[in-house]
Parts: sequence; structure tokens; C-alpha cells
Amino acid sequence: MQLKKGVIAIDGHSSCGKSTVAKDLAKELGYVYIDTGAMYRAVTLFAMQNGFIQDGEILLDELQNKLNDIKITFRYQPEEKLNETFLNGVSVEDEIRGLEVSNNVSTVSTIAFVRHRMVELQQEMGREGGIVMDGRDIGTVVFPDADLKLFMTASPEIRAQRRFDELKAKNPTDNSLSFDSILENVKHRDFVDSTREESPLKMADDAVLLDNSHMNKQEQMDWIMAVLHERNLV
Ligand code: DC
Repeated sequence: MQLKKGVIAIDGHSSCGKSTVAKDLAKELGYVYIDTGAMYRAVTLFAMQNGFIQDGEILLDELQNKLNDIKITFRYQPEEKLNETFLNGVSVEDEIRGLEVSNNVSTVSTIAFVRHRMVELQQEMGREGGIVMDGRDIGTVVFPDADLKLFMTASPEIRAQRRFDELKAKNPTDNSLSFDSILENVKHRDFVDSTREESPLKMADDAVLLDNSHMNKQEQMDWIMAVLHERNLV
């Protein structure tokens, strides 16, 4: 019997490894992986590039008028094993991960018209199933009928340390990186994500909680595969 190609929704706090899990899982299952955080980051970058963010304030009318000009696509890069994000045909993978976008993206993702447009695009991408999507509202808003919903978390300190190590590995000579400012950013994003009016981050009633503070990658994958077996998804 051919197993049906399901929809797997992964939500949770920022920097707790959702995208790594989602990527590995998609590979294991032969599914497509969609990083919805990258979509909100690309919109943020677009707003910055067009001067629609001034001192942290967003020019809402201007952004709304240009919303349909934003085309976000992904292309899988086998050498680097990553899904490269393109904004209007230009690769923005590095730029959208920088601190400036990170500092503005929480605010951009509170805007209702931005969310509505992103949700529409995400639902379209997952229409055929066979998808692993990670974000904040995938199990609650985008795919409330997902075949499996995972809610991931880890302590803020552990998440900040992982993010610090990641950035340091990319820029070993950058002495401006500070653990404290990254921890601050993690906590700030948690607060904004879970208190915003529009689709706040919350665990769906039927989601499975995965706290990976003290799990390594393999333990985490084994744990998830056991859940998938239980649900007859593998
Ligand atoms: O997963 P990430 O850190 O790349 O997400 C970037 C920001 O986008 C984060 O502040 C939360 C927001 N986001 C969201 O509101 N809804 C999603 N589905 C995905 C991300």
C-alpha cells in the first residue's frame, strides 16, 4: 500500500532547530521543505530595501501597495544542502539571516495583510501534500488539519548559545558578536511572537511537544521517527 503524502507542521520558538529538523525530515520522507520564516524575512528585506522601515517604524500603506510585487521562491542547493531563498529572482539567503533583518522581522510578521498573503502562498504550496513546513502558525492557522503537528522548544539560553556558535562559525573574526545581544534578541522575538494579536505563536491542542534542550540531533530524529511510526506516516 502506498502511504499517503502527508502534511507535517513544525512550529515553535525561534532558534530551536526547527529548520534543521524540518529539512532532515523532508529528506527522510522524500517531502518538500518550506521555511516560512524565510518568507517573512524576505518581506522584511523587501521593506528595508524600499525604505519602508524607518527607525523601526513600518510604512504600512507603502508596503501594502507593493505586496503583490514580492515574489518569493526557493531552490534546493544540493552541495550546501539548503533551500536557497530568492526575492524577485535574486538570492537573499545570506541577507535575510543577518541581524538587521532579524531585528525587524518580528514587527513585520505582526502585520495582518502580510500574514494573510503569506498564509495564502503557504497553503498553495502544500495543496498536494508531501510537505514539511516550519514556522509559528502552521499547525494553528496554515494547516489546522496537518497529519502531524510538532511544537518545538528549548530554553532561551541554549537557543542563544546555538545561534551564537552558528554565527561565530560563519564569521570567526567578527568580534562585534555578543552572546548577550543574541539572548536579548531571542527573548524579544519570543515575546513579540507569542503576544501579537494576529496568529500568535501557540501550541495547537493536538500538537506533540518536543523540548530539545538536552537532546542531540540523532536522539531528536529517533524521537520524531517513533512518533511518525505511531501515526502510520512512515
Ligand atoms: O523562523 P525564523 O526565526 O526564521 O522566523 C523569522 C520571524 O518570522 C520570527 O520573528 C517569527 C516570524 N514568523 C511568523 O510569524 N510566522 C511564521 N509562520 C514563520 C515565522
